Amino acid sequence: MSYRCLDQAHMAGARALVRVDFNLPMKDGEVTDDTRLRAALPTIEALRAGGARIILLSHFDRPKGRPNPAMSLAAIVPALEKLLARPVAFASDCIGAAADAAVAALGPGDVLLMENVRFHPGEEADDPAFVQALADNGDFYVNDAFSTAHRAHASTEGLAHRLPAFAGEAMRRELDALEAALGSPTHPVLGVVGGSKVSTKLDLLNNLTRKLDALAIGGGMANTFLFANGVDVAESYCEKDLADTAREIMATAQAAGCELLLPLDVVVAERLEAGAPASVRNLDAIRPGERILDAGPRTVARLNAAMDAARTLIWNGPLGVFETPPFDKGTNAAARHAARLTKARKLIAVAGGGDTVAALHHAGAADDFTFVSTAGGAFLEWMEGKTLPGVAALQDQAAGLVSFAERANSE
Ligand code: 3PG
Ligand code: MG
Repeated sequence: MSYRCLDQAHMAGARALVRVDFNLPMKDGEVTDDTRLRAALPTIEALRAGGARIILLSHFDRPKGRPNPAMSLAAIVPALEKLLARPVAFASDCIGAAADAAVAALGPGDVLLMENVRFHPGEEADDPAFVQALADNGDFYVNDAFSTAHRAHASTEGLAHRLPAFAGEAMRRELDALEAALGSPTHPVLGVVGGSKVSTKLDLLNNLTRKLDALAIGGGMANTFLFANGVDVAESYCEKDLADTAREIMATAQAAGCELLLPLDVVVAERLEAGAPASVRNLDAIRPGERILDAGPRTVARLNAAMDAARTLIWNGPLGVFETPPFDKGTNAAARHAARLTKARKLIAVAGGGDTVAALHHAGAADDFTFVSTAGGAFLEWMEGKTLPGVAALQDQAAGLVSFAERANSE
């Protein structure tokens, strides 16, 4: 994977347009999880050290191309100022007079946050005129938002074709980790895919079975596979209409030499409630009225043994209903085993997407993983083997497909 990083940028005095992802969880005007703010700090610090004028661009929520005070990025400024321990200026619009004036007031090392780029319809449309209006305020572009790289929008894709473009520090770390996990990994590579729905993860399962040496399926989606194999899953969540699809995935895996690890035993209860009486069942012993809510101990032991044999692990989705103890046991045990192996440098463990981060934090395992992505949709699309427009644009430019020198000379 070839793209240019910040050490190749001429920064001193230059205006850096930096795409970050400040689409943060907020409640009552307060940031409830500042992971994505922290993720942007290394890039901001590197640009400050290099004397750049730093202009941050982000979306927040989905305002659908219209200004919406409830989705203003102004609410993020205090949290960012606190983390940076310095003032952050704010521009009430990301283009036009307000933006121009705020940029003109910046000195080297100063930081400015622009208002939500999605207040303009040109953002999601990747409209050339909007791209140009954004580009007018920058000398170079930095994309530090892997989590929005699956969107071909003006600030995530268009700008990379208009200005000299660089991957920020968080983007670089993310791409390095993904490359190590799925691009050119050390084999054997084991995948863990959980979560409830097979239907939302078809592309992902099909791509992974072609690339991995073994793939463990957990969570509600495993029930659909068990059902397709003739197991009576009683009242369990199950997409019965996808039984044929599940059989096709099993056949693809076999043809590709990917060993599928389906549950050997399960934890059941009659109700999904915290502390509900739970039992371990063999697959042929699930009783009427019971629901599968977690992986059983033999399943977890075999998964842990597969981790012992693997050199690389890629994980998306919990093994059970981890939000409702005791159905967090399987996920906790497997996640902690992965963390131990990673800490002992026996395993490269990369995780991401949706609930996964929360599940690994719940298990106390996230900090020991090699890399935990903060991306949701972008991580899934990358696991599906799709091209992410925001990443592709950085690569195109590094490959010389876009020449600024030529463009600058002709302007
Ligand atoms: C996310 O939160 O996953 C990213 O910021 C992308 O947001 P979007 O799904 O609204 O494009
Ligand atoms: Mg999203």
